[in-house]
Amino acid sequence: MTSPSTTTQPLADHATVDAPNSAALVVSRARVSYPDGPDIRVVLDDLELSVEPGEIVVISGESGAGKSTLLTVAGLLRRPDEGEVTIAGIATSEMSERQRTAVRREHLAFVYQSANLLPSLTAVEQLELVGHIRKERGTAVRERALATLASVDLTDRANQLPSQLSGGERQRVGIARALMASPSVLIADEPTASLDPERAAIVAGLLADAARTHRIATIVVAHDTAALVHADRHLRLEGGRLRPM
Ligand SMILES: Nc1ncnc2c1ncn2[C@@H]1O[C@H](COP(=O)(O)OP(=O)(O)O)[C@@H](O)[C@H]1O
Ligand SMILES: [Mg+2]
Repeated sequence: MTSPSTTTQPLADHATVDAPNSAALVVSRARVSYPDGPDIRVVLDDLELSVEPGEIVVISGESGAGKSTLLTVAGLLRRPDEGEVTIAGIATSEMSERQRTAVRREHLAFVYQSANLLPSLTAVEQLELVGHIRKERGTAVRERALATLASVDLTDRANQLPSQLSGGERQRVGIARALMASPSVLIADEPTASLDPERAAIVAGLLADAARTHRIATIVVAHDTAALVHADRHLRLEGGRLRPM
């Protein structure tokens, strides 16, 4: 995979002021609006967010506030109408879709409310697939997959299909799969919302351990204390902007 040529591009002036160059993720002046009948609904309004390596930022907000929209923008899954998203120092707004996909594969990983595992693959195979997409070959891929499963305490479930796993175990496979990508930035949209408090605490704890151990900049949309106890910063999305809680 060719690396994007914009790696050395300097950050825009305003980004340098708001966020040090060490940030793994910088969203600056992001605007997103959707048509709403005859009107336009502004969902992100000159939004600013900067997350450092190893930092855990938890974002809360009412349903429809734009949390998922923000995560798709930060995750390069959607272009903002205006604004810049800089990942690991790489400014992405002027990039082609192909280049943005390359940055996404190299630097980003996602965890959702449901793990969306492939039904016909075992837990370890779900992880090996990520290695293969990253063009890793040979026995090293399986070894890394097994080590990553061990890090979420699922060694004894490695050969189970998703249908043979509990909801909490599936979520842990989803986290392990995200970690297989060795991301700079991990984006989690309500990863604990479908779990009971005990399992939510386990899942949130695993995300926090991974963030600290691997210095992953981690953004978690969540409302539950399970996620909040690990937050370095807790922000609320309201009126299209993030405010400290
Ligand atoms: N693809 C879309 N087209 C039109 N409106 C959308 C689209 N995606 C989200 N919205 C609207 O944008 C607002 C924010 O949605 P979302 O980001 O999903 O909020 P949250 O995750 O905070 O619940 C909602 O009013 C939603 O209806
Ligand atoms: Mg949402």
